[in-house]
Amino acid sequence: MRLKHSDYMLFAKTRSRARFNLATSGVGSFPLAELPNLSELEINGDSGYGYAPLQQAIAAKCGVDPDCVVAAAGTSMANHLAMASLLDPGDEVLIEHPAYELLVSAALYLGAEVKRFARLPEDGYALDPQAIRRALTPKTKLIVLTNLHNPSSVLTPEPILREIGDLARSVGARVLVDEVYLDAVYENTPRTAYLLGPEFMVTNSLTKVYGLSGLRCGWILAQPDLARAMWRLNDLFGVIPAHPAELLSVAAFAHLDAIRARARKVVEADRALLTQFLDGQTKVSAPRTPWGTTGFLKLHEGDVDALLERLRNDYETTAVPGRFFAVPDRFRIGMGVNSEMFGEGLRRLAQALR
Ligand SMILES: Cc1ncc(COP(=O)(O)O)c(C=O)c1O
Repeated sequence: MRLKHSDYMLFAKTRSRARFNLATSGVGSFPLAELPNLSELEINGDSGYGYAPLQQAIAAKCGVDPDCVVAAAGTSMANHLAMASLLDPGDEVLIEHPAYELLVSAALYLGAEVKRFARLPEDGYALDPQAIRRALTPKTKLIVLTNLHNPSSVLTPEPILREIGDLARSVGARVLVDEVYLDAVYENTPRTAYLLGPEFMVTNSLTKVYGLSGLRCGWILAQPDLARAMWRLNDLFGVIPAHPAELLSVAAFAHLDAIRARARKVVEADRALLTQFLDGQTKVSAPRTPWGTTGFLKLHEGDVDALLERLRNDYETTAVPGRFFAVPDRFRIGMGVNSEMFGEGLRRLAQALR
């Protein structure tokens, strides 16, 4: 039986919310009322294989040709389409560990043979091309990673990505880089890995860094022939997106810098609170990253699930158990929603740890 569900998503939808919610991964919601140009909203439009103004907006943001852009319902569907268009049952896929669970689940659902390469905690979860080299075989079709890394928020620099691209090319594989957190690098934001060579495919959306999850504005960047195959494959699933969401997405692209700057203030205030918290803690520790909306904390003693149950039941505070990343001695916390809530959540976490 192939995997046909996601345990993490069930948790995210039913168990992650709380008064003090540290189980988030993206910034707080951007309110519709603050988005200009709403008078142009309409119900039906000319979408077909992409709504032209949206295709152009995504292409301009990424510095690519619109022929390389495949619109998708969030990074979730983008990842699914990217993998499904490339993989047949039994094909070998290398996925980072720890990883966002849906990347693994989607590959398993597609019947791929999933192998893992480690991002080691002792290296601060940095990507090591040698770990990929060791896992690579002539059968490898795809290498999958996130940049920034979910859960640790570690940034992989371009020279390392290039090395991984070279490894992929040596066996005729491709590299899928999920960049849904990349724009949370607020200074010298790296360009998309898609621009590094034809072996790269990239997925992204306006969800995590912009607070626009409800628009489901996601995309894949792929070589035009592959992009065309993805559009055709998407016909089997969603056919066309909701046109009002496309129009709102185009409106959002016109104000993307301001939307990002608004969230940045909260993320940076929260990171300062997290740094202060970690500096005062002996029971937990985490790799310190300058960017990103998540932190991955190690509990030095005791059981993470028991701690998080107590945190939820006695302190109205939630975080994501590390078992969803197959790292049971850690848990993930999220920044960028509301600093008052975040600060109080950390205070309660400190109490639960005592
Ligand atoms: C690495 C990664 N990719 C994709 C997604 C899903 O993104 P979207 O909401 O755009 O579908 C998430 C959500 O947590 C994620 O962490």
